[in-house]
Amino acid sequence: MKITLTEFKLLRDYLEERSGICLNEDKAYLLENRLASVIESYKCKDFSEFYYILKGAKHEDLDNKLIDIMTTNETLWFRDAHPYAILKEKILPSFVQAVKDGKKDKIKIWSAASSTGQEPYSIAIAVRDFCMGQNIIKKEMVHILATDISDSCIEKAKTGIYDSIAMSRGITQEQLNRYFMKETANSYSINHEIKSMVKFQKFNLQDNPIILEPHFDLVFMRYVAIYFSDEFKKGLYNRLARILSPNGFLIIGAVETLRGLSESFDMMTHAGGMYYQCKR
Ligand SMILES: C[S@@+](CC[C@H](N)C(=O)[O-])C[C@H]1O[C@@H](n2cnc3c(N)ncnc32)[C@H](O)[C@@H]1O
Repeated sequence: MKITLTEFKLLRDYLEERSGICLNEDKAYLLENRLASVIESYKCKDFSEFYYILKGAKHEDLDNKLIDIMTTNETLWFRDAHPYAILKEKILPSFVQAVKDGKKDKIKIWSAASSTGQEPYSIAIAVRDFCMGQNIIKKEMVHILATDISDSCIEKAKTGIYDSIAMSRGITQEQLNRYFMKETANSYSINHEIKSMVKFQKFNLQDNPIILEPHFDLVFMRYVAIYFSDEFKKGLYNRLARILSPNGFLIIGAVETLRGLSESFDMMTHAGGMYYQCKR
């Protein structure tokens, strides 16, 4: 079934209103392909009928399904490597000093678009490794919250079980042996110690993160702003600056930038990558 330009615009606007995700007209094929099976299961004669079902009644399930289908959940373990070097070599050591000075007794980290969990569990592994090497920050002091708009991603992440394809993307043999257990011939589960360090929750980045926590020390918000309009990004980075603790840190995707979008952060570099610190 082909999508018309009018149908594409109706569904595109609806998706943006619900999630902030904005699709250019050259992405009409994405809507057409990804919605094909839902349209078939709802026995709709065309995309317009599907749109009116979506819009007309209170179909929260269908709404969630649309968002689930239309989000791009690409992720991998220790994506880009440098964020984890920055975490272990710059950010966590700065927190050690704050703990020593009695300015901090907890460290709150937010993985703000956590997809199927590889990012927050990678953070947990990096934190755990760091904690083993010193005795000021104990891993129990580090709270990691992972959120995503997609129900299916959150459910998958909570299981902590990954197939061998997912496991072949970014995990070393040594990490595999140390932090995972074989679940079936083709899957692995993350061990209890790492799993218990991360809490998962559904959260839409259109909402104000103050409802999650008023002061995060570090936010990973990686490879999600690329799907939003500049106007949305400005609001998002503003909200982030308000919920970061004084001098709190932000790590964004390697292809993302704050230039022209926010004046609230200083940019720093380490290990071939960038990170940001709240000016306040
Ligand atoms: C490409 S993945 C990035 C995952 C991970 N941060 C990484 O870098 O590997 C983007 C994630 O953003 C989520 N997402 C998209 N729009 C969102 C929104 N409005 N609120 C929260 N999460 C959103 C998607 O569900 C998806 O899991």
